[in-house]
Amino acid sequence: NKTYHIAVIPGDGIGKEIIPPAQQVMEKVTQGVADFEYENFDLGAERYLRDGVILPDEELERIKKTDAILLGAIGDPRVHAGVLERGLLLKLRFALDQYVNLRPSKLYPGVESPLRNPGDIDFVVVREGTEGLYCGAGGDIRKGTAQEVATEVSINTAYGVERVVRYAFELAMKRKKHVTLVHKKNVLVNAGDMWQRIVDEVGAEYPEVFHDYLHIDAATIFMVTDPSRFDVLLTDNLFGDIITDEAGSVVGGIGYSASGCINASNEYPSMFEPIHGSAPDIAGKGIANPTATILSTAMLLRHLGMDEPAAQIEAVVEADIAQNAQTKRTTEEVGRDILARL
Ligand code: IPM
Ligand code: MN
Repeated sequence: NKTYHIAVIPGDGIGKEIIPPAQQVMEKVTQGVADFEYENFDLGAERYLRDGVILPDEELERIKKTDAILLGAIGDPRVHAGVLERGLLLKLRFALDQYVNLRPSKLYPGVESPLRNPGDIDFVVVREGTEGLYCGAGGDIRKGTAQEVATEVSINTAYGVERVVRYAFELAMKRKKHVTLVHKKNVLVNAGDMWQRIVDEVGAEYPEVFHDYLHIDAATIFMVTDPSRFDVLLTDNLFGDIITDEAGSVVGGIGYSASGCINASNEYPSMFEPIHGSAPDIAGKGIANPTATILSTAMLLRHLGMDEPAAQIEAVVEADIAQNAQTKRTTEEVGRDILARL
């Protein structure tokens, strides 16, 4: 068996509760194929509130040496907005150059969509993860005065855009061969034009893949009127952030949404996490649904080349959801039911 070294960041709130069942599933499904050595990192709001530390360099260096990261959830209402987002989550994405934020949305049989006619929803958003408005470029001058000027600059590099565009086309080749670029090129003419040109250029190398374009505002409409039209949605960091929340809701809530922050060149480890947050309102009650985290382990395994176990997790989760989507279960029960099917 090959041994993989996994950094585990349970984080805050329900993060600590949903990680153990996910690890159990991951282990069972890879028996005889792989072994995992976990290294736990105490990072998040609690650590920050306790000793004022967010992500020490020494710990970041240790994380860099692992094969992949499994993250629960980060966040706590006692910490000022932006501190952990920038200091921990975004710092990891940037430091580990996780340029593909991969967010699949699928409406599982048995799950109720808020849409009247949801159709067959099964698409993936490829969100750029290291550029755009998330770079932190910008500033604030004359703060607090009537002359204050605050700016955030969206950085888009040809290098950064091309690599994520290429990833989207490669992914489309394994799916329904349809890439939709989502931007706002009628207003953001510089970045929008560059994204479109790069999509056209890279797209020419993939003649089998059909590609089209939607403005972000129109895309939010189709997301509720006709989401089954989508296969691979390709977009920048902020548009991707927004559209994936909408995507999560049309497939019945973010409780089923997994995600991967991927360094597709494998220079640094990729990170897998449920899209939902730390849910302080239900933390400690043992009722958080671990399904999205379990689905995130499938993405982790696929990233490490274990397609077969990954597909097995997805099939078992799908069967579990079909049977139990309307049943109230504890975290432990969901984990046990899914394990029992493996
Ligand atoms: C997400 C989150 C993060 C983001 C926040 C917490 C920084 O909303 O993963 O979608 O905006 O990327
Ligand atoms: Mn978000």
